[in-house]
Amino acid sequence: MDLGLTGRVAAVTGGGGAIGRTTAKLLAAEGAAVALLDLNLDAAADAKAWIEGEVPGAAVAIITCDVTNKASVAAAFDAVTAELGPVDVLINNAGFSRDKYMVKMAEDDWDDVHDTVLKGTFHCCRAVLPGMMGRGWGRIVNTSSMAYLGNKGQTNYSSAKAGLIGLTNALAREAGGFNITVNAVAPGLIATPRLRARPDFAKLEQRSLALTPLPRLGNEVDVAKTILYFCSGLADFITAQTIHVSGGR
Ligand SMILES: NC(=O)c1ccc[n+]([C@@H]2O[C@H](COP(=O)([O-])OP(=O)(O)OC[C@H]3O[C@@H](n4cnc5c(N)ncnc54)[C@H](O)[C@@H]3O)[C@@H](O)[C@H]2O)c1
Repeated sequence: MDLGLTGRVAAVTGGGGAIGRTTAKLLAAEGAAVALLDLNLDAAADAKAWIEGEVPGAAVAIITCDVTNKASVAAAFDAVTAELGPVDVLINNAGFSRDKYMVKMAEDDWDDVHDTVLKGTFHCCRAVLPGMMGRGWGRIVNTSSMAYLGNKGQTNYSSAKAGLIGLTNALAREAGGFNITVNAVAPGLIATPRLRARPDFAKLEQRSLALTPLPRLGNEVDVAKTILYFCSGLADFITAQTIHVSGGR
């Protein structure tokens, strides 16, 4: 089935990480040129080599970008345009958690998570929206988290990821008239290589399985496939939606 992504240009923030690189690989396999924007250029280079091995002939650019910094974002999207062309698909995926109970949370723990997840998404959307509006087509997918519902020790992360869903819904209404869809995925616990390497992984897995209707943990491909769906022609009339990628938990 043709998903309608051939020749599109997609930018994935946090493209060096597990979910970002897997998403970029699926987009590349559908014929999109992909740009991996990451603070960590070594991780992006590793991801590029992996994608090129998996998808022969893929067009993959790697670009250093700090999504918290407006000038860095502007320079990164200029570089994507110069190397691959204007961005049609934006995946706002850069993010991390920094867990502490609020009484022990430093202001930096709050700011760093919010600046990356929420303000970073604002900067990246601002960078691509004028072009998407001018061309009358765009797809934006934001990586939220099931933590948006609220987890102990995650007031910073839960509020940033909840804010991302508000941003998604508001921007979908602003941009819809330009044939731009804006959606979000909310993954539950995802068994990325980093999570599997944790010494307490077996305990985490056991606890999560007991609460999850489907009989396994989610992985980065589950998330990437859902993002791909939102970018594809299958979801042309879908906007302002959040899909929980959590096995029903
Ligand atoms: N892994 C999970 O269980 C899980 C669950 C729910 C949501 N998520 C979300 O999915 C996204 C990807 O997670 P992952 O597991 O692939 O993480 P990861 O750590 O493998 O990848 C995140 C990438 O973001 C990059 N990054 C961090 N700060 C940045 C910045 N300021 N500018 C540009 N890049 C930056 C990192 O260098 C890294 O390569 C995150 O937003 C995360 O919050 C993950």
